[in-house]
Amino acid sequence: MKIAVVGVTGMAGSRVAAEAVRRGHVVSGFSRSGGGGGGVASFTADATDPGAAARVAARHDVIVLATRPTPGAEDGVRALVTTVLDAALGFGRRVLVIGGAGPLRSPDSDLLVVDDPRFVPRRWRTTARASVDQFNACLSHPADWTYLSPPALFAPGDRTGAYRRGGNRILVDADGESRITAEDLAVAALDEIESPRPGPRHFTVAAAFEPPGPGCGST
Ligand SMILES: NC(=O)c1ccc[n+]([C@@H]2O[C@H](COP(=O)([O-])OP(=O)(O)OC[C@H]3O[C@@H](n4cnc5c(N)ncnc54)[C@H](OP(=O)(O)O)[C@@H]3O)[C@@H](O)[C@H]2O)c1
Repeated sequence: MKIAVVGVTGMAGSRVAAEAVRRGHVVSGFSRSGGGGGGVASFTADATDPGAAARVAARHDVIVLATRPTPGAEDGVRALVTTVLDAALGFGRRVLVIGGAGPLRSPDSDLLVVDDPRFVPRRWRTTARASVDQFNACLSHPADWTYLSPPALFAPGDRTGAYRRGGNRILVDADGESRITAEDLAVAALDEIESPRPGPRHFTVAAAFEPPGPGCGST
């Protein structure tokens, strides 16, 4: 497949690009700076520019949108995702949005994660609110999109190749923690790109449970 990764210099985008290359896809990366990421050919493009978004959509089968607003620019997320979805719709392309945990439901209620201080401390609130706006813009758009919400803790780490997949409710482990590495989220992203699951277009993933260690088997 020809895959465009918009936000390729970022934490998530660089891992998605690297995972796509690892699987033999033809990958191009895009960002405003045009820097490299994930070992792919990289180009300058501002995803808020309809012309640039159309050029990206024209040349790829799938667009992965992995942008994140700089602090203070959160109001722009709705316009950005809409521009990319408009372009994708025009060329009949699929879009996988690597979004935020904010629009997920809490594990034990219908509260949105953005409003649940167990997962979103005050300092992350504005960013998480932006991801809710981003998700709502997708919901009202007719393009072929899928929205992947990371868990609460999403950071660089090891690639285990394993993960748990859920729906629109945040996944937590036995200790109540919700986490995944960017490398394993990239595995989940490529699995979805290669074999889209029918059904709800909003899903989340989390680290796989630890396998029991030696001596921890059943008695
Ligand atoms: N727990 C959570 O919910 C959680 C935690 C972390 C991240 N996330 C989400 O994961 C996604 C990716 O975040 P990240 O941490 O990987 O971001 P990041 O490291 O800050 O990288 C953002 C990328 O987007 C690019 N970008 C920003 N605006 C752009 C534009 N207008 N046009 C083209 N490229 C643009 C940046 O490059 P330039 O600046 O050069 O354009 C960069 O490559 C976001 O949706 C973020 O909210 C969620």
